[in-house]
Amino acid sequence: MTRHFLRDDDLTPAEQLEVLELAARLKREPFAERPLAGPRSAAVFFDKTSTRTRFSFAAGVAELGGNPIIVNPGEAQLGVKESISDTAKVLSRMVDLIVWRTFAHSGLEEMAAHATVPVINSLSDDFHPCQILADLQTIRERKGELPGLTAAYVGDAANNMGHSYLLGFATAGMHIRVAGPEGYHPRADIVADATRIAAETGGSVTILTDPVAAVRGADAVITDTWVSMGQEDEKAERVATFGAYRVTPELMGHAQADAIFLHCLPAYREFEVAAEVIDGPQSVVWDEAENRVHAQKALMTWLLKESK
Ligand code: CP
Ligand code: NVA
Repeated sequence: MTRHFLRDDDLTPAEQLEVLELAARLKREPFAERPLAGPRSAAVFFDKTSTRTRFSFAAGVAELGGNPIIVNPGEAQLGVKESISDTAKVLSRMVDLIVWRTFAHSGLEEMAAHATVPVINSLSDDFHPCQILADLQTIRERKGELPGLTAAYVGDAANNMGHSYLLGFATAGMHIRVAGPEGYHPRADIVADATRIAAETGGSVTILTDPVAAVRGADAVITDTWVSMGQEDEKAERVATFGAYRVTPELMGHAQADAIFLHCLPAYREFEVAAEVIDGPQSVVWDEAENRVHAQKALMTWLLKESK
């Protein structure tokens, strides 16, 4: 059966751990797995801009022995002149993997429904699961085993990162607290799914409006941009709404003394995080960015193996 990775809960808790362990191994031994040797190709589509995702997939596919075919916004027929399902059928005859950054999550579901090779969500409006694997790898490196750890995500709890932290961290058996203003809370069905997963893994899910309550005693403090790609028209309103959720040294002071700070990047030091935090000793954002390569190489290797 072809396995896809569209949402964080497409991996079971045991499978997520397998991928994270492989990611740690590939960080130590970058060329230990060569599932794309040939080279075989991977299609990597972008409907939105990117730095980390573009370079980590291009480098990662090459390190697995393969050939990344990067498609920038507007360069393919996909979604404009040709249906997603026809594209999925054609690409499945030509490449071994399809990686797609897009707007509507339903497009990825349609691609996966018609592809006979693994489809990977490299960010949709609703989820960014590859980023969560890199975050979990980073937290494991600093804090050890994940079950029982507490993470606080503050800011736009209704965006792709907010949703993926709920599902991905609950899968890891962590206690995930998210805090955002009224009107920017996560989707109810995703909260319900994460809560169900947490009940199985021993984790927990808490949705709050108070950023201090979310951060209190946490092992990891996380935020993301207040204005995601596609929301540029709402910038003024969002900046006004999210002011109380800025991660400052004072807010970090409510977490554990040895808490780490994560941010998927790109970051805005004038908005969601103070320079003293993101550029300070608790920040692990550069390891987090690097881990995109290792985590995605592990994911691609795992999906290809499971889909045989
Ligand atoms: N974090 C992340 O996905 O960054 P890019 O948008 O630069 O790919
Ligand atoms: N929430 C952000 C994440 C960027 C990696 C966005 O979608 O723009």
